Amino acid sequence: MRYDIQMEALKHKQTDYKNLCTIRRARIRDKRVLIRTDFDVSVEHGKISDDFRMRKSLATIQYCVQKGAKIRIISHWGRPQGRPVRSLSMRGIAHHLEQLLKSRVIFIPDPFKASAMDRYGASNQMLFFENVRFWRGEERNSRAFAVKLAAWGDLYVNEAFADAHRKHASMVALARRLPAYAGISFAEEIFYLSRVRDNPRHPFVAVLGGAKLETKMPLIRGFLKDADRVIVGGALAMGTGIWSMHFTAMLAFHLPITLAYDIGITALSMAIAVGVSG
Ligand code: 3PG
Repeated sequence: MRYDIQMEALKHKQTDYKNLCTIRRARIRDKRVLIRTDFDVSVEHGKISDDFRMRKSLATIQYCVQKGAKIRIISHWGRPQGRPVRSLSMRGIAHHLEQLLKSRVIFIPDPFKASAMDRYGASNQMLFFENVRFWRGEERNSRAFAVKLAAWGDLYVNEAFADAHRKHASMVALARRLPAYAGISFAEEIFYLSRVRDNPRHPFVAVLGGAKLETKMPLIRGFLKDADRVIVGGALAMGTGIWSMHFTAMLAFHLPITLAYDIGITALSMAIAVGVSG
């Protein structure tokens, strides 16, 4: 409960947490705000099948709208490896955002064209840039690339928690060039994760899902130190090759880990986990 009260303070009273300065502390009226979101959403048969990440970023976007900022959205989608890949264009995702916000979003296919800057550089409209990973400078954390992105904004907001482990230009080099703030959901993630890392209440069950084991294994190992049980579900639990060997070894050493292979078992495990830790 104490944490929830603190979270409310963080949301409403412009309080900082863990030295994170949230966007609520910035003066943004008439300022051009570059918001780095993580709209790396799931798509099935050409349709967005899970827009949770997009909906989570709405609080920050709407806050900036209410405060009269000029919003420019940067995101990545998939791994196009520094070149334009038509199937990974974010035009459709920009359109989906437009529907969520019920307001106009202008899609900019190439923000580095002089004509784009001439036309929209000072625009009050919400701008949405093409997949930032279409340019090599992004994954190289190139300073020159960050300079070009920074030309579009007066300040920077990171609302891409799921991408925060990547040392990419729109996450790192850009944040160094402009006054930088955490988005509202980004701060929430830090808040709740810090709570279980620094001061876990027992019994403590960690439930993890996702797709990429290479980035989740360090987390699983970390939670195994503190949690009474770690439940790994979804695609993670289906790991093959070296990853399934890791799990086999963990189970052989009687580490408190459960692999929930199917969605029903995962849901059941989560329900139990909530019951245990609540
Ligand atoms: C994710 O979906 O985990 C993030 O968007 C990061 O994507 P990446 O693993 O391609 O860097």
